[in-house]
Amino acid sequence: MRQDPLGYLATELQALHDQGLYRRLRVLDDEQKARTSIDGRSVVNLSSNNYLGLTTHPRLRERALAAVEAFGVGSGSVRTIAGTMRIHIELERKLAAFKKTEAAVVFQSGFAANAGTVSSILGRDAVIVSDELNHASIIDGARLSRATIKVFPHRDVAAARRIVSELPRGTRTLIITDGVFSMDGDLGAVPALCDLADEFGCIMMVDDAHASGVFGRQGRGTVDHFDMHGRVDVQVGTLSKAIGALGGYVAGSRALIEFLYHRARPFLFSTSHPPAVAATCLAAIEVLEEEPQLIERLWDNTRFFRAGLQELGFNTGSSESPITPVIVGEGARAMALSDRLFEKGVFAQGIGFPTVPQGKARVRTIVTATHSREDLQFALDAFSAVGSELGVI
Ligand SMILES: Cc1ncc(COP(=O)(O)O)c(C=O)c1O
Repeated sequence: MRQDPLGYLATELQALHDQGLYRRLRVLDDEQKARTSIDGRSVVNLSSNNYLGLTTHPRLRERALAAVEAFGVGSGSVRTIAGTMRIHIELERKLAAFKKTEAAVVFQSGFAANAGTVSSILGRDAVIVSDELNHASIIDGARLSRATIKVFPHRDVAAARRIVSELPRGTRTLIITDGVFSMDGDLGAVPALCDLADEFGCIMMVDDAHASGVFGRQGRGTVDHFDMHGRVDVQVGTLSKAIGALGGYVAGSRALIEFLYHRARPFLFSTSHPPAVAATCLAAIEVLEEEPQLIERLWDNTRFFRAGLQELGFNTGSSESPITPVIVGEGARAMALSDRLFEKGVFAQGIGFPTVPQGKARVRTIVTATHSREDLQFALDAFSAVGSELGVI
């Protein structure tokens, strides 16, 4: 009988079970919204990146359906062969105008935008200076580039400066940070890193995946929030979170974008978005421009919920965004907190190593513009009860 050459995977999975870290995928039975049904249970959803509720916005639905009627369901090719539809170009123009850059290119996901960009604009001779908590897609792009990777402690600009100042003069260097860190909700040191990049002639890149639609005027991101226009060479955003659909983009100079058209491997070797996705994203940017009350509500809800968690005595780290971690330490404890909350009708995902460092496991919460005060109070009551029961507070 043939021995299973993948048998070691079952052993590793068993180890996850033994450590209480095995995660079964939760299944959404309904739409992605603030109160929804997951695994057959009605819950307040504190785990989605649907910051503004756009996944179910009527204008986005209509435009997606109209695009299906007008253009079909698929693009049929990669962008560089037959898969560039007029609507893809319209979206890129709209994004460039929104981000106040010369041009923009859309990728299939934020992950593809980061990994495809970092790996194509840098090579073996370059150095990448990266915050230790940057997103996995940046790390993968850096590895693929074969450049030397130098990691600085989280938000430690003095350490980044030491790294940059010790490089031989003329070394092609990229400084890169997330705008909002996805597991802690704090902001990247964007202004100070821009100063560093200016001083040493480095390329400056910001991944604004969690900042787009949340920070800055009409949700233009941290580059706008910190008024760093013209000082960030490569701005990445995602269309999969606040924008409510799917995709990622890079905004920057015309030369950067044309280069990515020619060299970014996800752009060259993976089929472009269905037209309905592009149409949805176009409608989403119109909504950002026309419905500022959504972002105001998001921030009202964020302040209310975070203050509530803090009053209850939870450790919410140093978040400055709608992402509020409830840090509990051990992975198994975070998973137990998440599971008990779920039983009480609140979905807040437990997150452990390796997504966050050992000993910093947490339940991560994200509020949205569409949570009602009753939803948030319901969630706080559940946190209070379960937190006491498990000895977290
Ligand atoms: C900071 C950051 N960058 C990039 C991404 C990837 O975005 P997408 O989900 O669009 O692939 C994510 C999402 O998980 C993220 O949190």
